[in-house]
Amino acid sequence: MFKDAQNLVITSVSPVAIAHLNDVIDHALSYGKGIEDAIIKALTADPTCAIAHAYAAAYFLSQENAVDRRQALRHLQMAQQYVLQTTQREQWYIQAIAAWSTGAIDQALQWHEAIAQSYPQDLISVQQGQYHYFYRGDATNLKRLAERVLPAHSDNHYLYGMLAFGLEQCGALKQAEVMGRKAIAINRHDPWAQHAVAHVLETQGRVAEGIVWMEHHTDTWTACNSMLLTHNWWHVALYYLKQGDWQTALALYDTCVWGQARKETPKDQVGAIALLLRLELQGVDVGDRWQALSSYLRFRLHEHALPFQDLHAVYAMSRAGKMTWVAEMLHSMQAHAQTVDQSQHRAWREVAVPTAQGLIAHAQGDWLTATTVLKPVMHRLHEIGGSHTQRALFKQLYQNAQRHANASAVCTHPAIAPKRLLFAV
Ligand SMILES: [Fe+2]
Repeated sequence: MFKDAQNLVITSVSPVAIAHLNDVIDHALSYGKGIEDAIIKALTADPTCAIAHAYAAAYFLSQENAVDRRQALRHLQMAQQYVLQTTQREQWYIQAIAAWSTGAIDQALQWHEAIAQSYPQDLISVQQGQYHYFYRGDATNLKRLAERVLPAHSDNHYLYGMLAFGLEQCGALKQAEVMGRKAIAINRHDPWAQHAVAHVLETQGRVAEGIVWMEHHTDTWTACNSMLLTHNWWHVALYYLKQGDWQTALALYDTCVWGQARKETPKDQVGAIALLLRLELQGVDVGDRWQALSSYLRFRLHEHALPFQDLHAVYAMSRAGKMTWVAEMLHSMQAHAQTVDQSQHRAWREVAVPTAQGLIAHAQGDWLTATTVLKPVMHRLHEIGGSHTQRALFKQLYQNAQRHANASAVCTHPAIAPKRLLFAV
């Protein structure tokens, strides 16, 4: 019987596979860029290791795009093929990933909660559960899940980082900062804990401190996957933008946010889109960057992996004037909202679709439509997920539309495409 570094039993015939599986776990918890390599090595050492296939499935699902989703489903099938010989914990985790793969997030969360109750050492499962709570805008449970397993972990910086982020999202900023700094005192290379503190400093308006904090850790980000690498740079750019230094923010977009992005990857695209939009909302001319970015968005048209992603993509397409894509994507989002799992049904139908309509109107300079459509959904935006900081963008956009609508109904947005309503208000 083999155990992993978390002291959890792993069903495998190969100690070599266990060693690589420990690397997979470490890369997952540290958002490391070597996770795919570690997965391949673990599965090469033991192609029958169900939990390694399940971790692979979870990793590829978390990429939230159609190509990686196909890869995820292949691994999930293999995990299910070898599930009978596995432990209860492994079986529950595989069930959680299977539920996720069908969009049954409620069910997935039930399995992650059950694992947290019976196997609190399993931080991969806690991280996965937090991921789902994050993308349904449930900060309370995001925090609670980390708290639930705290007694089983002493001096575990990964858990402290997870808890710090949960505390920050719940508005417990002092506790979040203490917890995040405690994690970094143990291991300064923990990018999620760095990120949790970055959120606290941003929320409290401690912008100069935030720049010092994040720039002090940039040397550790070379080990990060592109999602957290570009997201942490995005936070740095936000600080500069708050200081009014849009030149540095724009330079960071070019060099470190979009510049270091895996350009086909939805989460990397989200950060770049959000930064471009924030720059524009401050009156910065971003040149042809919308066009350059949006050429990578074609694959988003029918994926609908996360409403949060769709909203960013559809806005960028609109700003780039790709109105055929916009119409196709909006239509596809509406169809998806009718068929999605009931646990996500209302968020898609009642929040994501109208928000998309409002964003498209804003991108076209139709301020009145933007304000009319967005107003009823503003108080429900948390249902589409994302952090407070990320969602603050939509509030800024709404306020911008309001200001323009009040000033004049005339389109004054730079580089506006001809006004073409794609929906009835
Ligand atoms: Fe963040």
